[in-house]
Amino acid sequence: MTRTGRTLRARAPAFSYRESKKGLFRRSTGSILCCEDVPLSHLAERFDTPLYVYSATAIRERMRIFEHAFRKVPHTVCFSVKANSNLGILRLLAQVGCGFDIVSGGELQRVLRVDRHAAKQVVFSGVGKTAEEMTAALKAGIMLFNVESESELWVLAESAARLKQTAKIALRVNPDVRAETHPYISTGLHQHKFGIPISASRRIYAQASGIRSLKVAGVSVHIGSQITNVKPFGEAMLRVAELVRELRADGHRIDFVDAGGGLGIVYDQGNLPDFEGYVADYAEAVLRPLRGLKVHLLLEPGRSILGPAGALLTRVLYKKTNGTKKFLVVDAAMNDLLRPSLYNAYHEIAKVEWKDGSSLSETVDVVGPICETGDFFARARELPRSEEGDLLAILDAGAYGMALASNYNSRPRPAEALVDGNSAKVIRRRETMADLLRNEL
Ligand code: LLP
Repeated sequence: MTRTGRTLRARAPAFSYRESKKGLFRRSTGSILCCEDVPLSHLAERFDTPLYVYSATAIRERMRIFEHAFRKVPHTVCFSVKANSNLGILRLLAQVGCGFDIVSGGELQRVLRVDRHAAKQVVFSGVGKTAEEMTAALKAGIMLFNVESESELWVLAESAARLKQTAKIALRVNPDVRAETHPYISTGLHQHKFGIPISASRRIYAQASGIRSLKVAGVSVHIGSQITNVKPFGEAMLRVAELVRELRADGHRIDFVDAGGGLGIVYDQGNLPDFEGYVADYAEAVLRPLRGLKVHLLLEPGRSILGPAGALLTRVLYKKTNGTKKFLVVDAAMNDLLRPSLYNAYHEIAKVEWKDGSSLSETVDVVGPICETGDFFARARELPRSEEGDLLAILDAGAYGMALASNYNSRPRPAEALVDGNSAKVIRRRETMADLLRNEL
């Protein structure tokens, strides 16, 4: 198998190469990149490009691995909706018993649309919840509010009192733990806008417990995203466990510990650990400090469930050379997948069709049609030689891909397709110009 083929093993069953036989329309043999049993070239023909493609089997499998790693403790996996909020994806996750972590009234509506009864497994995080959003969540009967400031506590107390309800709360504490990740997605240090300093939290818990419309129920933490070393999770949990003991000594009833999300994935072609062992290490780091505490653990993974289960399929429009630089101009752009432009993120790019014996490679920039130099997917990347019209798959785009897409340059957003075994269906139609112009006067 080719070099790229080997590194793709880690995404299986989502994406892997299959041999393509000589046939009526094929003059040579080679290999073709498939999502489960469906060749990506078939999807491009049926649904056009750019196209987000997800593997249902991979999503279920990654969820199963998460559940298995935490099987020994009472827990709920609450998928972080912000990572991928497509109704088809949320429905699939709800079907395997997943709860949800939401950060807006909009995400609440999506979750309720998928399952009217899903609210009982919903946690509501975020630094800027409005009274309207809180009211909607209270009416729906969500499991837990992760409160991020003292002021928010009063607004929630008032909203609940108005509905003659009691809101179950956890304070999201900021443990002041450094997580090695991109500065834009690191959240657990005191200089970040998130959470309440752990040192100030006992006082606020005391205040909250005196309010009739609030019920103190847990402690919550989230230290950042795309964290590939499990140690900081353990450090944060140590601090949380200590706080739980103190709070219980103060007379609070702490039923929940919400460990947040943030487990990273491997985007490059380096050492790809097997997901099962990696999640087991993560579970060990999180669970060890909590031993003996008898809490219900909440987890909010997003990327680690969806990231490798999705890819962005795109077609080479033009090849061009400027001096010594070679460019592949593809039909997807930064509006479709923002991560490389915003975080300088690396995404592996795989050629969809290989002919046997074609081992030529070249160093190229893979760029989109948008009028910004920052519109790129890869820079100075050695890739198998591609021609105009060839298909490329930008891997690990299942999380924070479509979720961050925009209409910049008046580009309608891509369609999304969900593959399950040998069947594929559209779970979001391609946007049209009529969709884009609908609200303009
Ligand atoms: N819980 C909370 C409170 C969060 O803020 C986040 C992510 C998660 C859970 C899920 O984290 P995950 O397991 O997906 O790492 N757009 C960025 C990532 C932003 C993450 C924001 N918060 C990216 O594309 O890398």
